[in-house]
Amino acid sequence: MPWRVSPADKAAGVRPDPYAVWMSEIMLQQTTVAAVTAYFRAFIARWPTVADLAAAEDADVMAAWAGLGYYARARNLLKCARVVAAEHGGQFPADHAALLKLPGIGPYTAGAIASIAFDLPHVVVDGNVERVMARLHDEHTPLPAAKPILTAHAQALTPTTRPGDYAQAVMDLGATICSPKSPACGICPWRDPCAARAAGTAPELPKKTPKQAKPVRHGTVYLGQRDDGAWLLETRPEKGLLGGMLGWPGSDWVAASEQRPVAPPVEARWQKAPGEVRHTFTHFHLMLDVMVARLPTDAAPSTGHFVAAADFRPSDLPTVMRKAFDLTRK
Ligand code: ADE
Repeated sequence: MPWRVSPADKAAGVRPDPYAVWMSEIMLQQTTVAAVTAYFRAFIARWPTVADLAAAEDADVMAAWAGLGYYARARNLLKCARVVAAEHGGQFPADHAALLKLPGIGPYTAGAIASIAFDLPHVVVDGNVERVMARLHDEHTPLPAAKPILTAHAQALTPTTRPGDYAQAVMDLGATICSPKSPACGICPWRDPCAARAAGTAPELPKKTPKQAKPVRHGTVYLGQRDDGAWLLETRPEKGLLGGMLGWPGSDWVAASEQRPVAPPVEARWQKAPGEVRHTFTHFHLMLDVMVARLPTDAAPSTGHFVAAADFRPSDLPTVMRKAFDLTRK
């Protein structure tokens, strides 16, 4: 993992860069290591210090984040970088309470930065750590109710020496040996003290309270391309889903029973692309109709702005909007 310092470098006194630790922890929220790695490298290469990131254009950062999801993280990333640059002299504070005051940093992230970057003994509990603790203590209370219990167990085990290495070791144990299905108990370093291993309950832990089924929402997007090749796009409002991201103009996304005819952003011969886009967000499944049209060079849409063909990169779009573009290429 590129945000980590190797044991050899650590032994030689190299400390992790708090900026890199912060960046990795924001990216790793609800996102896998595999998905994060390339984005992490790209961000650090393009904005090597927090001051560089603080000076970036909002649109460049949002475009670079496109595809990672949970876009509020990118908006808060920029806000946080600007506060650290302006109010903390470009240095992340080595203090849990001060970290907690920064935009986008909650208890988990403050704990992770404090322990990994500054080797302060703070508890770090993500989904992997919850699973390890539930099994180690054979805790059958279902999540999310079990959270405080599992956090207390994790707190009790957090050492004062090398807390950062410890925190990452437990996360790694959960990501590899103590896996959700068929854990490899035979090779686990915590095999002996593990209560669930003794009880034979490890594979069924942690218990989870069933989640509500996700509702389905429907909507329409309009992919208009001008005769000179420019695409009609809009920057979505800061607040709300995909806030601050680039997207195609379109309808609100609502239940089938609430769908109303919507006016396109500009009059044209709109034609429905065959098929539909399906995408799942945290709280709903989305099905999108995609309308396509050629627009005259003097088109005056009611919303959005034209992006020249040479400046348009589908990879700048959030995944659902890129899927709509891909549908029209088939
Ligand atoms: N998940 C969140 N933070 C992590 C880290 N530092 N190492 C591995 N997995 C993680």
